[in-house]
Amino acid sequence: PEVPTTGAFDVSTIVKNHRVHGSVYTSPEIFHREMETIFRTGWVYVAHESEVAEEGDYLTRRIGRDPVVVSHGKDGVIRVLLNRCSHRANRLCNAESGNATSFRCPYHGWTFSNDGSLMAVPMRGGYGEEFAKVREQLGMAEAPRVDSYGGFVFASLAPEGISLKEHLGAAMGAIDRVLDLSPTGKIDLSRGWMKHHHHANWKMVVENNVDGYHALFTHASVYDAIRPAKVSHVPAKVKTVVRDLGGGHSEIDYSAEYRKLDEEFVWYGRIPRAKLPEYVEALEAAHGPEKTHDALVVGPAHTLIWPNLFLAEMNVMYVEPIATDETIAYTAAVVIPGQEKLNQRTMRRSEGAMGPAGFLIADDGEIGMRNQAGLAARNPEWLELSRGLETDVTDETGIVNSDKSAETPQRGFYRQWASVVGQEIPAS
Ligand code: FES
Ligand code: FE
Repeated sequence: PEVPTTGAFDVSTIVKNHRVHGSVYTSPEIFHREMETIFRTGWVYVAHESEVAEEGDYLTRRIGRDPVVVSHGKDGVIRVLLNRCSHRANRLCNAESGNATSFRCPYHGWTFSNDGSLMAVPMRGGYGEEFAKVREQLGMAEAPRVDSYGGFVFASLAPEGISLKEHLGAAMGAIDRVLDLSPTGKIDLSRGWMKHHHHANWKMVVENNVDGYHALFTHASVYDAIRPAKVSHVPAKVKTVVRDLGGGHSEIDYSAEYRKLDEEFVWYGRIPRAKLPEYVEALEAAHGPEKTHDALVVGPAHTLIWPNLFLAEMNVMYVEPIATDETIAYTAAVVIPGQEKLNQRTMRRSEGAMGPAGFLIADDGEIGMRNQAGLAARNPEWLELSRGLETDVTDETGIVNSDKSAETPQRGFYRQWASVVGQEIPAS
């Protein structure tokens, strides 16, 4: 179908009920619309406060394709500044992260304070009266809305819209469940990110995280490796569920399996009491035994927070779309302040799954690339997402629950997608 790059667009031509047209993953016009609507109007995850904890700390990220600097200014404010010089639009800050009081443009040396204001212009005598009048306005542009929840910093490039809390909705509980793993109620994501360059559309990378259907096939080698020692005693009847949380958020919740298996369970990412008694005691002292049990045994679900953040037990992933068939996924281990023994274990496990040679992300990356290769074929043009429609049960809060291999999360994702991507894009 013809997809206009400005104005409104009837998305029902490409997302019908439980079918998504292949062009949704390949069309440059659709990608353009996604950047203008999802990433330039809505809330997007950009960084965690622990990464810019000190005044002067900064890091560079993207919101969609807009490069930004997340900067902890000398006035104590964390800002999201567009990474662009106001002179000739050069990308101002070229390091991934650091600590600085100012950013100097590599092109002609204009220098900006870490609060974004223009501090110095070399050889300024060359500019006349007119320039003096506008100089005040030549600071770095700033994301008009920045807010955080549980240390997770989100930004919106639109001056108006729903609040972050409204945006997060039922997904706020997912962040709470991660924070419950910390005796101080705070987590740390500052130990660095593992970067994976996917040759796949960003949506395939994102939705794969809540696809409970692929694991036994895509990750068969992992199951073969761990089954004899570790999962042979999983009771056959325990029920993992997937949920469409609304607003594009969704999750796979394994807690029923974990609850049955209790403290003995040594599944990936779980923490048996015997191995880390001092951590468990610290958690019990802070939260009490019942909440500690839930935090450790039930644990956080695998939750996708629309559009680009994914929390899975003690891993956090966020995704930056680069092009229709190019995406970068960043993964970090959740570090618990003051619990170094636990943290070493978490980081090694995280590297094992999501590092450059990680056994999960390598499989998923390969699958994503093959998806994109398959999409190059003309037929079939419509992709299927109706699995589990019969098992969907909507509860009183509007959350849709279904069996673990249902495509319920993806249906929620594309319902949100359709409601956003068809919106009016002003001709600029
Ligand atoms: Fe930055 Fe000229 S483009 S100083
Ligand atoms: Fe996978």
